[in-house]
This record gives sequence, C-alpha cells and structure tokens, in this order.
Amino acid sequence: MPDGGRFSGQVAIVTGAAGSIGAEIAARLGSEGARLVVTDLDGDALEARAASLSERVRREVATVAGDLSTTEVATALTATAHERFGRVDVLVNNAGGGIIRPTLEQTEETLRATLDRNLWTAMRATLAVLPAMRAAGYGRVVFIGADSVRNGLADHAVYNAAKGGVHAFARGLAREYARDGITVNTVAPCATATPELAAILETNPALGEAFVQVIPMGRPAALEEVASAVAYLASEEARFVTGQVLGVNGGSTMV
Ligand SMILES: NC(=O)c1ccc[n+]([C@@H]2O[C@H](COP(=O)([O-])OP(=O)(O)OC[C@H]3O[C@@H](n4cnc5c(N)ncnc54)[C@H](O)[C@@H]3O)[C@@H](O)[C@H]2O)c1
Repeated sequence: MPDGGRFSGQVAIVTGAAGSIGAEIAARLGSEGARLVVTDLDGDALEARAASLSERVRREVATVAGDLSTTEVATALTATAHERFGRVDVLVNNAGGGIIRPTLEQTEETLRATLDRNLWTAMRATLAVLPAMRAAGYGRVVFIGADSVRNGLADHAVYNAAKGGVHAFARGLAREYARDGITVNTVAPCATATPELAAILETNPALGEAFVQVIPMGRPAALEEVASAVAYLASEEARFVTGQVLGVNGGSTMV
C-alpha cells in the first residue's frame, strides 16, 4: 500500500537504516506511503537494504552513506532529502548501537564510539533537519532510545550515558518546539530480536538471558513491534503527543 497511507505525500529520513531495526522502520514508513531517505555508516549494507526496500515499497529510495556524527554527512542528508523530494516531514534517529561490557573494560575508543554512534548521530541529524521543519511549521522527530536507561541493565552504563543523553535531548527539544508544529518523542525498546541478540544468546547465554529475563512477557521485542510504535509517533495523528518516552518493553516498566 505505497500510496494513500498515513505518510502519503511525506518524506521520511531514517538513520542507521542498514541495521535491523532501522530497516524495519523504513519499510514500515515506506509501506504507509513515505518517500524515504535512508542513511548509514556502512555504505554497502545500506545499498543492499535500499534495494530491497525499494522493491518492497515500489518506489525509489534515496541513500546517503557516511559517518552521521559529522556535520558534513548530516548536511548532505538534508540536502539530499530536499533535492530529491523537496521536503522533510519525519526524522527517525535510529543510528546507534551499544558496546556492551563491564564499564571498567571500556576503552577510550569504545567510550567515544558509543557516544558518537548514539548521541552525536542523533544530534547532528536533528540539528540539520530542524530549520526546515520549523520553516514548514510541521515535523515529527522520533529518537530510538533504550529501556536500559530506565532499568540500568547489566553492563549498559556507558551505552545508557549516551542513550540517556538522547532521551534528555528529545525532551528538551519537545518543549522548545512545542508551538512550531513539531513533535519530538522517544521510543525506548527493551532487548529486540535482532541477529546480534541471537548471537549474544548463543555465545554468552547468561548475558543474553539477563537482558530477556527482566521482561515480564518473557521474550524480546519483535522488529515490527518497535517499528509500529515509531510509525504512530511519526504520524500526523500523534499531533498532541510530545516529549514522551514510549517503552516498547513487554511490560518492563511495571517491574
Ligand atoms: N537491538 C536492541 O536490542 C536494541 C534495544 C534498545 C535500543 N536499540 C537501539 O535501536 C537502534 C537500532 O539498533 P539495531 O539493533 O538495529 O542495531 P544495528 O547495529 O543493526 O543498527 C544500527 C545502525 O546504525 C549505524 N550507525 C552507527 N553509527 C553510525 C554513524 N556514526 N553514522 C551512521 N550510521 C551509524 C550502524 O552502521 C548500524 O547499521 C540503535 O540506536 C540501538 O541502540 C536496540
């Protein structure tokens, strides 16, 4: 259903779209009518994802490869959206990923990489997109945060420092742009059923189980369950919802 959906006539940017969750979010927005601009550090994986996405949603998908923690790539991203499609309605800040290990085993490199991947990518992309959204008087910004910010999951302290920054940035922006037609929200997934989680469950079952056993529903989130929450917050109908953290966490908030 490429046309006539909730995002018909709209343009959506999804960052980190070569990854599992980002690809699913892009597919969801595209299948509901959005024209897509997808971006990722991994250019080859991005092109492969964009090709299958384009087939799935039956329209062209624009790509921008590069390190989104830099201003240059963030600027190229918005320039591509405007040149190819003339507008940006939705930004999904999904790029990220943790380097999950005990805090004292983090190195200078992993500390910086965690902040670059999760916080700087989100800040750069948002700063690049906001002026046009404000000028248009319309925008939906959705950040992918993490439920671990709330529950302090095992070995997640450094990741949580970065994602906590994301949650806080989102809330601050929500207030700042509340009268500009722009909503800003965070979707906070618990452990999600990605190939990486499957690998952890295989190589380090104790750690993998620690991520899953805190979830009352007793299983990780499915990719489409995260994507559907993002799609709601990215849609026009969520116009009175801003500054929220929506946990997609199988009831974990009750624990
Ligand atoms: N998988 C989970 O269990 C889980 C749980 C909570 C939150 N999250 C968050 O969800 C998001 C997606 O996670 P995923 O599991 O699909 O991970 P993933 O590693 O499959 O995808 C993340 C993508 O972000 C890209 N990226 C990282 N740094 C970048 C940079 N500097 N510039 C451009 N692209 C960059 C990576 O190349 C990768 O393709 C991430 O923000 C992650 O932190 C994941």
